[in-house]
Amino acid sequence: MKFSTKAIQPEKQRQACHIVGIFEGGALTQSASAIDEATQGQLSKLLKQGVFQGKIGQVLPLFFSAFEHIILVGCGKPNAVSMTGFRKIIFNAVKSCSTTKATRAICYLTEIEIKQQSLAWKIKQITEAAEDAIYRFDLFKTEKEPAIALNEIIIHLPDEKQHKICELALAQGQAVARGVTLTKNLANLPSNICTPTFLAQQGKELAKNYTSIKTTVLEEKDMQKLGMGALLAVSQGSAEDAKLICLEYKGAAKNAAPVALIGKGITFDTGGNSLKSPDGMVGMKYDMCGAATVLGTLQAAAELKLPINLVGLIPAVENMPGGTAYKPEDILTSLSGQTIEVISTDAEGRLVLADAMTYCERYKPDVVIDIATLTGAVVIALGFHATGLLANNEALAADLLKAGEDSNDRAWQLPLWEEYQEQLKSPFADMANTGGRSAGVITAGCFLSRFAKKFRWAHLDVAGTAAIMSGTSDRLATGRPVPLLIQYLINRLQ
Ligand code: BES
Ligand code: MN
Ligand code: ZN
Repeated sequence: MKFSTKAIQPEKQRQACHIVGIFEGGALTQSASAIDEATQGQLSKLLKQGVFQGKIGQVLPLFFSAFEHIILVGCGKPNAVSMTGFRKIIFNAVKSCSTTKATRAICYLTEIEIKQQSLAWKIKQITEAAEDAIYRFDLFKTEKEPAIALNEIIIHLPDEKQHKICELALAQGQAVARGVTLTKNLANLPSNICTPTFLAQQGKELAKNYTSIKTTVLEEKDMQKLGMGALLAVSQGSAEDAKLICLEYKGAAKNAAPVALIGKGITFDTGGNSLKSPDGMVGMKYDMCGAATVLGTLQAAAELKLPINLVGLIPAVENMPGGTAYKPEDILTSLSGQTIEVISTDAEGRLVLADAMTYCERYKPDVVIDIATLTGAVVIALGFHATGLLANNEALAADLLKAGEDSNDRAWQLPLWEEYQEQLKSPFADMANTGGRSAGVITAGCFLSRFAKKFRWAHLDVAGTAAIMSGTSDRLATGRPVPLLIQYLINRLQ
């Protein structure tokens, strides 16, 4: 999709799909008034007939002779549009636009007031939500849906003085949207294609596309030599080779301490010998969403040429049951030297992350952020709207929460109090890999915190936000939390 920003007078623009907001109660936005005037009041006449109430996200496609397509989109009550509401308005409007034959859309939704948000913010959101609305994943369908005609969106710029800052917002929005799309595409692939080896190839592909990225891959024999007993145990039952994918993005001075992103890359999680139920297993191709997020974020950072250094680490492993697989009560020696008693082979994410975190020490990172579809418990705690956040450093936690607010990709913090650590006691090893049913998100965080003693660290549990995993017909990756992470990196520059 081609995006641009421009001050537009609707009455002077005809052949396009005009995306125009209408408030509940019939109040017109500026662009709607302009169209109304140019059509001798046809629009207000229509609204008086009560065919369109302006409820938030409600859409009415019209065909007005002179204007061709007009998409009326409801914006709810004036001065009360929330950030998520704004996203929904754009998403629905662009989705509707993409079912017409229009090739060019003009989006006037920058006119809508959003509390405390700038014009630049709105432009970024429009870019991201528009890409989201036209996203499709039909690689494996023999009959594809007809191609979307829409190939250009012009975003109306109500204040030309802000042109420059809006251009930057547009570039950022597009980079985020492309990162999100990469993340979604990888996540949506099934595990018979998206194996650890495939993910490693994707990492190398990024390095091919961007000279600022370097990718190296550790093989099982390398990991054996290093002593990654936790990561390798998870891989033991699988016919696929485990990989530790290491990406380095250089955008700043060589000696500038990098931000490290570690993404859980379980390409399929059967639960291992602590086997999941058939229903619980559907959706587990998405257990590599953390890995996909790392790749999408690095791509966006490279595209924006952010003046920072980044490290991306992806422990890529398949978790299978069977005769060679690891078992409950096995004791593993992690790369850190700490021993772990396996209580559940289904708590595998923290095991592969633990070794990746220890390995990360060699990069002397400024901060480490892991991204993982780690627990079902986070879905119980926060549902599908907020990413779970735990951290051993309050300033880092605050920065990530703010980045989530800024980017409309929110997280919510849970406490990492020492009281919870007790739940990880094992009679035989330094720790157990599970902490019982209560506070499952937190005890998972507690487990990881034992491998984060040498750096500032935050953990993002995205099991509820990275994908819609359950149900049979509406499973789909979201690309979260790429927007949050890019925003965090951009905010760091200020
Ligand atoms: N990948 C799952 C977590 C998950 C569950 C993600 C549902 C998305 C939807 C993870 O490996 C897992 O199985 N966690 C266990 C931990 C438990 C054994 C302590 C869980 O949440 O049940
Ligand atoms: Mn599991
Ligand atoms: Zn898992």
